[in-house]
Amino acid sequence: MTQHLATTDRPADAPADAARRADWWRDAVIYQVYPRSFADANGDGMGDLPGIRSRLPYLRDLGVDAVWLSPFYASPQADAGYDVADYRAVDPMFGTLADADHLIADAHDLGLRIIVDLVPNHSSDQHEWFQQALREGPASPLRERYHFRPGKGDSGEVPPNDWESVFGGPAWTRTENPDGTPGDWYLHLFAPEQPDFNWEHPAVREEFHAILRFWLDRGVDGFRIDVAHGLVKAAGLPDLGAHDPMKLLGTGATPCFDQDGVHEIYRTWRTILDEYPGQRIGVAEAWTPTARRTADYVRPDELHQAFNFQYLASSWQAGALRQVIDESLEAMRPVGAPTTWVLSNHDVTRHATRFANEPGLGTQIRLAGDRELGLRRARAASLLMLALPGSAYVYQGEELGLPDVTDLPDEVRQDPSYFRAAGQDGFRDGCRVPIPWSGSEAPYGFGPEGGRSWLPQPAEWAHLSVEAQAGDPTSTLELYRAALAFRRAHPALGGADNLTWQDAPDGVLSFERTSPDGSVLRCTANITGHPVTVPSPGELALASEPLTQDGPHTVLPADTTAWWTTG
Ligand code: GLC
Repeated sequence: MTQHLATTDRPADAPADAARRADWWRDAVIYQVYPRSFADANGDGMGDLPGIRSRLPYLRDLGVDAVWLSPFYASPQADAGYDVADYRAVDPMFGTLADADHLIADAHDLGLRIIVDLVPNHSSDQHEWFQQALREGPASPLRERYHFRPGKGDSGEVPPNDWESVFGGPAWTRTENPDGTPGDWYLHLFAPEQPDFNWEHPAVREEFHAILRFWLDRGVDGFRIDVAHGLVKAAGLPDLGAHDPMKLLGTGATPCFDQDGVHEIYRTWRTILDEYPGQRIGVAEAWTPTARRTADYVRPDELHQAFNFQYLASSWQAGALRQVIDESLEAMRPVGAPTTWVLSNHDVTRHATRFANEPGLGTQIRLAGDRELGLRRARAASLLMLALPGSAYVYQGEELGLPDVTDLPDEVRQDPSYFRAAGQDGFRDGCRVPIPWSGSEAPYGFGPEGGRSWLPQPAEWAHLSVEAQAGDPTSTLELYRAALAFRRAHPALGGADNLTWQDAPDGVLSFERTSPDGSVLRCTANITGHPVTVPSPGELALASEPLTQDGPHTVLPADTTAWWTTG
């Protein structure tokens, strides 16, 4: 029996050196922090910026390059902060602007970059612009900054078109005029508390240029751009006609998403990003129908990266994975952008739970499934992902192997789409449960002892805490630490677009990455569901489960990925 974690030295280059690297984003590992659920310094049950700041050394030691923070701006929290009332203010629930400044400074001192979330498709209905537009009534020019329209029907009682909200229900809400009579309707592709901006209006464009500069001046290293494919709508807001329920992934071309006009916006944003030193980046959250359409967002004069949702949506099946890996790499080649890889985020069921269930159930699952199998596959999937060329995203808690919490009672749920019929995203609270750091009782170090957490943590999470896993070579946390350190140190595991598939039995994926100096990394993932014996290609570096040597062969257990160095 071989110890499944080969000894891995600390990174060859200290994080601070890595962060100074040119083109740092081409192979960066970017860790998503969901501020509500990461660490709670003031004990109110909700995570906050001082909490995140106190945990930055953990992230440095984990070995990531950058941290992406989901929104912490002033917000009524109708969609957990993706409804922004003031883009230049920190919500008191999360701290102050000074806390944000300290967080950015501390991160930089530790060699970590900070990427903030920008939500340009819509504001909160409490945003001053929207409130003013409502107050001033139908004739107000301020209404042109959003999409206000008269209704159809005899008395305007029918929505202006047939678009549906991604969260379920119509994408339009009727307003009341200042005199109390029923008024125009406004468009919201998400919750009614999230009115869509009209990006044809120059004031909207200028405002976002100023917001970009506001945060760039404070030192952020980039922006994750929320619903980047939604800003521009087809002229005239035409009906969709007969269609499937509106979804972010899996919806073909529509008049609401992925219109060609969005690209001009990102070309301008790129010139702003490039004015600042140190390679500040833009990352598109663009749910497009194909990888090729995604590539348009990362042309050389547009954004730097786009999330690879086709990869996220793939099942744990060798054929499907190989196809999406090939298509993703191929799609990015003509534009020269790095491919990204992502398995989990705050909008989907965690991959440890997705892979615990039958394939084909999608990315919103409320079934716990076979937890042991899910964790085993998740570990194998993560090791596979971290060997692929390009940049990878890690969602907080996946390094602990956290499953989704699938049995949250209705009364604690906050996801707005859970309460709207036919919404696609109703189960998102399950991946947003606060992180267990230490101790044997909730809130497990998320906040002060005896405190609480805004979503309840399951009793079994005591065994999954950072404290419980640190130093245990068989733990998922130590697997991630070893994999990230190895990835940083091994020259073949950079962002360079090279991957050579190797012959392998059905259901086994095996590829090599070769560095310019000729050193080779072989990654083999056994997705067959049973043990497979393969020739040992070199020296074992890391494996997601213990391996058995059989002379010149290695027995790869089911759902296991291994890395070897050769040459
Ligand atoms: C993005 C966010 C999601 C949010 C939605 C509306 O998809 O990731 O959390 O609900 O946009 O802003």
